[in-house]
Amino acid sequence: MRSGGVAPTTEATLQALRAAEFPVAGQYIYLNHAALGPLPRRTADAIAELAQDFRDRGVLAEAKWFGAIARTRALVAQLLNVSPDDLAFTKNTSQGLNIVAASLPWRPGDVIVTVRGEFPANVYPWLALQQRGVQVRFVKMRHGQICLADLESALQGARLLAISWVQYSNGFRIDLEAVSRLCAQRGVWLCLDAIQGVGALPIDLQATPVDFCAFGAHKWLLAPQGVGVLYVNPRVRDLLQPANVGWLGVEWRDYTAFDYDSPLSASAARYEEGTRPLVGIAGLEQSLRLLLEVGPEPIAAHLLDLTDYLAQRLLERGYSVLSPLEPRQRSGILTFCHAQRSAQELFAALRQARIVGAVREGGVRISPHLYNTREEMDAVLAALPV
Ligand SMILES: Cc1ncc(COP(=O)(O)O)c(C=O)c1O
Repeated sequence: MRSGGVAPTTEATLQALRAAEFPVAGQYIYLNHAALGPLPRRTADAIAELAQDFRDRGVLAEAKWFGAIARTRALVAQLLNVSPDDLAFTKNTSQGLNIVAASLPWRPGDVIVTVRGEFPANVYPWLALQQRGVQVRFVKMRHGQICLADLESALQGARLLAISWVQYSNGFRIDLEAVSRLCAQRGVWLCLDAIQGVGALPIDLQATPVDFCAFGAHKWLLAPQGVGVLYVNPRVRDLLQPANVGWLGVEWRDYTAFDYDSPLSASAARYEEGTRPLVGIAGLEQSLRLLLEVGPEPIAAHLLDLTDYLAQRLLERGYSVLSPLEPRQRSGILTFCHAQRSAQELFAALRQARIVGAVREGGVRISPHLYNTREEMDAVLAALPV
């Protein structure tokens, strides 16, 4: 199957991966990675092997599998272009955001800026701080977009901006470079919810620094549910007073020498508290290897090609595209609607044709990944009412 405007070598790699790693593609036209990524075959196999090893050997299996923790941390570091020491494993995005919210030194009257329309995971942790006298200021989106000028005025006197890299509803991608600069110039901490971007789009946290970046791995990173990552910029690491501390968050050497006065771990592992989500981490390692085999740039080019292809044809057929069409604002998400048909009706028509999408904010959301093809976009068009 042809997938369109990407380099022929990438095209061949993607087709080989589709056949070898994504059994889901034989059952469905799966276009819902913004909700949940299917596990690649190698990821599912690693998890099954881990389960068998722990079933048969108990604690003795740890020696084989514990190495996955450092290897996966290094792979995430490579993907984000940061040091492994800046990364903590979490169970999901929310936990990462809550660690930041609960551990920063807030003062009554401090202002946090966020966006009306953010996924609630990136709102509740900040609203909870109102109990401590912190104010939450919302920026409104205009026509599905977050305007820099609106952010700029909302950031007056603020201490933190909590924002998604990519909006879950319509796929709007912020200009991370501009937002990073804006926050740095104003001395505002930048906390990025990156779950709808990491795995789909390239990111370089050296080139576009943020203070905090949290994401779960079960969407675009194609890992199991229950594992996520929190990046903490080393320049603010000591600012956070971890609200939750535990035996793996401190420097300790062996099980015979617990003295209860070990200092916090020097690295971001200080936020990890206790036993890590090993099943998810071992799965994430394999999924990251697969994604890095192709590379973030070719994956992003492929996704933009597919969503662009679909968007143009939807517009020709009288559908409205709710996602931004400007290349720099786009992502792996495309949301659309029809003036005479409800989103539920469109969604049902797709399901009838074994196409898995989602309904979000009054539209149908389509979110392909590296193994999807232009032919599958044609199938979406064929399944939709004219
Ligand atoms: C922007 C965004 N943040 C967070 C989440 C999920 O948060 P968590 O990983 O804590 O379940 C989602 C989607 O489920 C999302 O779209």
